[in-house]
Amino acid sequence: MPVHVLDHPLAAHIITHLRDKTTKPATFRTLAYQISLLLAIEATQRIETELKPIETPLEPMQSRVLAHQPLIVVPILRAGLGMVQPFTDIFPDVSVGYVGLERDHETAKPRSYYCKLPPLAGRHVFLVDPMLATGGSAVQALSIVKEHGATDATLVCIVAAPEGAVEVEKHHPGTVIHTAALDRELNARKYILPGLGDFGDRLYGT
Ligand code: PRP
Ligand code: URA
Repeated sequence: MPVHVLDHPLAAHIITHLRDKTTKPATFRTLAYQISLLLAIEATQRIETELKPIETPLEPMQSRVLAHQPLIVVPILRAGLGMVQPFTDIFPDVSVGYVGLERDHETAKPRSYYCKLPPLAGRHVFLVDPMLATGGSAVQALSIVKEHGATDATLVCIVAAPEGAVEVEKHHPGTVIHTAALDRELNARKYILPGLGDFGDRLYGT
């Protein structure tokens, strides 16, 4: 399965503080921003570049810049919103779409409540959602962006459960997943163990 786990001492440090139940929402938001910035850099390693003729103070040269097409980032609401700003901060051209999905507390199945996407035909999408638990939300979001024409999508999350990664591979084989942590398992209520609890609630203090 193409699951890439972020391997950096700073990522480990940030994840530890995100997991810590005493971390308050304001700090949690800052940490979510920081880890998402590291993930944004990692996940976009292979985006297209093109040569641009420039002149340094000493001589002309051809040097690489990001290719003209804007990067497309789609957060799964609501928790995914906490991962968008690092992408918009570092990429000069970025289009942001939104997919709203909410897990039913009893069944853990996702329910769709919102969708607003830029043109996706032929485009590669970076789908961002901090938690990959059963994989139900990611699978549905991947189907939605593909129905809107995306040819390909990369999933970027902060904590993933093995069950979720298997589910994504089953329904969307070959999807690349970038995560800051690959955890042990899901509990009976489909929460990730050891995990960090409900990301959306901790992000927004609800
Ligand atoms: C969380 C999380 C994912 C989903 C993961 O969202 O942000 O979208 O659960 O679970 P799954 O892999 O089992 O589908 P939630 O439904 O709690 O909504 P929220 O972002 O509004 O808090
Ligand atoms: N959603 C979360 O926010 N946390 C989990 O552990 C599982 C789903």
